[in-house]
Amino acid sequence: MIEISEDICCSKVNIVIGKGALSKLSEIKDKNVALIHSKKINVDGIKTYLERFYDIPINDGEDSKDLSNVMLIIKELFNRGFDRGDYLVALGGGTVTDVAGFVASIYLRGINLINIPTTLLGMVDASIGGKNGVNFGDIKNVLGTFYQPSLIISDLKFLETLPADELLKGLAEVIKYGLTLDKELYDFLSLNKDKILAKDEEALEEIIYRSSLDKINVVKEDERENKGIRIVLNFGHTIGHAIEAGSEFMIAHGYAVSVGMLCEAKIAEELGYAEEGVVEDVLWLIQLYGLPYDVSQLKYDINLDKAISAIERDKKHRGNVIKMPFPTRIGSWKGVDVPLEIIKGFAFQCLRK
Ligand SMILES: NC(=O)c1ccc[n+]([C@@H]2O[C@H](COP(=O)([O-])OP(=O)(O)OC[C@H]3O[C@@H](n4cnc5c(N)ncnc54)[C@H](O)[C@@H]3O)[C@@H](O)[C@H]2O)c1
Repeated sequence: MIEISEDICCSKVNIVIGKGALSKLSEIKDKNVALIHSKKINVDGIKTYLERFYDIPINDGEDSKDLSNVMLIIKELFNRGFDRGDYLVALGGGTVTDVAGFVASIYLRGINLINIPTTLLGMVDASIGGKNGVNFGDIKNVLGTFYQPSLIISDLKFLETLPADELLKGLAEVIKYGLTLDKELYDFLSLNKDKILAKDEEALEEIIYRSSLDKINVVKEDERENKGIRIVLNFGHTIGHAIEAGSEFMIAHGYAVSVGMLCEAKIAEELGYAEEGVVEDVLWLIQLYGLPYDVSQLKYDINLDKAISAIERDKKHRGNVIKMPFPTRIGSWKGVDVPLEIIKGFAFQCLRK
């Protein structure tokens, strides 16, 4: 079991990674605990470490990131007399931790939050960093806050049941950390594909540990995304989001980001920010894991008008530029203001079949 402990502004955040990490739950004593969990996740393991808790099962998936679920949980907490010293424990993928995190941040202006991610994406990304949110209409994450969980428990046991495609979607984000922040992670991913895809415990622990550390270190420097540092986590996401929007969100985020990373690496190289060879290194790792790197490999067509208009509406753009995180060489990056017209031009090339 590996532990990480960091101060994010005014909160201490602990992350515990490994098989058996769930035992950390036994440290909660004499408090009310509400367990918000995906209906699909078996909670028997939790009962071993928590004597009693209020069970609040919810649906998971993108549709569950809705205010109706937020209200359902708030009513339960209120009716059961939860106060600020009590605990909300979120158990599930990124959709569940996003909903529960939002509730934890607004109920009584903030109640203790523990995240127990059950997907690889949740463990390496969604459960860390304090962002939460629900969708509004068909626009993602319109309503949300920054609110840090005090504890994140990444117990590898949950990954045993995770389908291979969900593992791959999480791996796209792990690859992102390797390409922009962590050459050692890039090398580890290069050398350990078979073990990782076979869910070898030590290999998974290593990539979750390195990814968690990479993300928390970025968040520590720029919690609110206003210092130009947290944007590195968006590598592959500008084009990735255009792909998602252009396919009416039929193409999964992880696959869209995977294609987005290669396209954005090409932009970085063409504009002279990435060293020669970076594009080949990005392509090589994406291909190694069987992730898509070209739109022709995606299952759904992309409507170019919708994709380009998503870039124009990108939350990250200020005036006529978007600050893009470009890999300069493997494991290093630089934030560059790129005119919208240039990004649109490249996007057009990358997204055309
Ligand atoms: N807050 C953040 O910083 C942040 C960062 C990245 C992504 N996100 C959000 O995370 C969400 C995506 O997260 P996700 O990929 O975990 O999606 P998800 O929560 O929909 O889970 C994906 C699928 O895996 C299933 N599942 C979950 N755990 C399982 C397990 N242990 N075994 C078998 N099946 C399991 C779920 O039922 C679901 O079908 C998106 O809404 C995205 O916006 C948030």
